[in-house]
Amino acid sequence: MSWWWAGAIGAAKKRMEEHDKPSRYKSVALIIGVTGIVGNSLAEILPSSDTPGGPWKVYGVARRPRPAWTDHLPVDYIQCNILNEDEARDKLSKLNDVTHIFYVAWAEKPNEAENCIVNGTMLRNVLKAVIPNAPKLKHICLQTGRQHYTGPSDSFGRVQVQPHDPPFREDLPRLKLLNFCYTLEDVLFEEVKGMARLTWSVHRPGLVFGFSPFSSMNIVRSLCVYAAICKHEGKPLRFPGNRQAWEGYWDASDADLIAEHQIWATMNRHAKNEAFNCSNGDVFKWKDLWKVLANQFGIEHYGFQETDEKWSLSEMMKDKGPVWDEIVRNKGLLPTKLNNTGAWQFVDSVLSGKSLLDSMNKSKEHGFVGFRNSRTSFNSWINKMKTHNIVP
Ligand SMILES: NC(=O)c1ccc[n+]([C@@H]2O[C@H](COP(=O)([O-])OP(=O)(O)OC[C@H]3O[C@@H](n4cnc5c(N)ncnc54)[C@H](OP(=O)(O)O)[C@@H]3O)[C@@H](O)[C@H]2O)c1
Repeated sequence: MSWWWAGAIGAAKKRMEEHDKPSRYKSVALIIGVTGIVGNSLAEILPSSDTPGGPWKVYGVARRPRPAWTDHLPVDYIQCNILNEDEARDKLSKLNDVTHIFYVAWAEKPNEAENCIVNGTMLRNVLKAVIPNAPKLKHICLQTGRQHYTGPSDSFGRVQVQPHDPPFREDLPRLKLLNFCYTLEDVLFEEVKGMARLTWSVHRPGLVFGFSPFSSMNIVRSLCVYAAICKHEGKPLRFPGNRQAWEGYWDASDADLIAEHQIWATMNRHAKNEAFNCSNGDVFKWKDLWKVLANQFGIEHYGFQETDEKWSLSEMMKDKGPVWDEIVRNKGLLPTKLNNTGAWQFVDSVLSGKSLLDSMNKSKEHGFVGFRNSRTSFNSWINKMKTHNIVP
């Protein structure tokens, strides 16, 4: 037998032995949107040795190349544009050991009709690539949001139709308008139809407090950048919203809590084939969190100021690009551009609207007892943002 033939047989034997070895993993997660605000929390929590259902092997998918701030995570990173059907099939159909999908991706489009088409197509491409090729796939978590109850809103926080009366309950009927949350649910239901081995859960967080330098809707990061600019320019930290938002009761959804909620749903038989709200379980006022923000950035003068004219962060930030570049340079921060790091329209829209609370009763009744203190959550995500050099 020639040396190369013996070598080839040896390599094939080794591969077969590897294949036959019992896997050291009990579950295999596929996180779609791993660089997002909740994707990042899932990627931090799933690989931990004490995570229910583990040990978990974790695949993480996003469109961009792997960012350096995910380097410490034990995740098999797959760069894939899931909007492209061929690319999704090529890259995701190979993952035949996947047992659980966590779908936390999102692409923002200029109007709701496009949101529905693009986000619906992305989810369908993933499910079509994975479901027929992953025989051990058991459960799919789909994250949508509180927009389920309100529909889309504009940059003034105005919704198009009268939303349901809060606190929102999961069994409220759908509103009669286009809503990408409904499209995503419908795509999920169509793709799992008739597949007895598959269960699903839908998770509807409210305003998310979390990490991720990339997320298009990250209010904590945006407020930190705004505060850093106020500090740099020696200006007071004005609240960019209305009195209702300053004084009203709000709730938030901690990104780690959402990740825990999704993992709970994958493991708990009472949570199968159900939709759940997911919020911290307490209320806060922005006027209290504003103190936390001001303290974190060493700003003495801060607060809400009533004015007649409409005041928006999007307007204020229009010419602040060079200021942010200077802060990034002086403080040695992770290089970011102002328009990518601050979600100004999103913040304007949130803080010009009124708070709309949800109910966590259904989650509790089904056995989920997780909660977060929103003030502590806000503070700790600011700390994480600083530790990772995203803000000074
Ligand atoms: N953020 C909030 O405050 C909030 C509140 C309530 C509900 N929600 C809901 O939660 C869901 C997820 O939103 P999010 O804010 O958590 O998302 P996000 O932080 O903006 O993350 C989106 C993720 O999707 C990935 N992605 C987007 N387009 C992709 C594509 N074509 N191919 C592959 N990956 C793609 C992004 O990857 P790249 O970085 O590579 O582009 C990123 O990892 C949405 O339904 C949203 O409405 C969010």
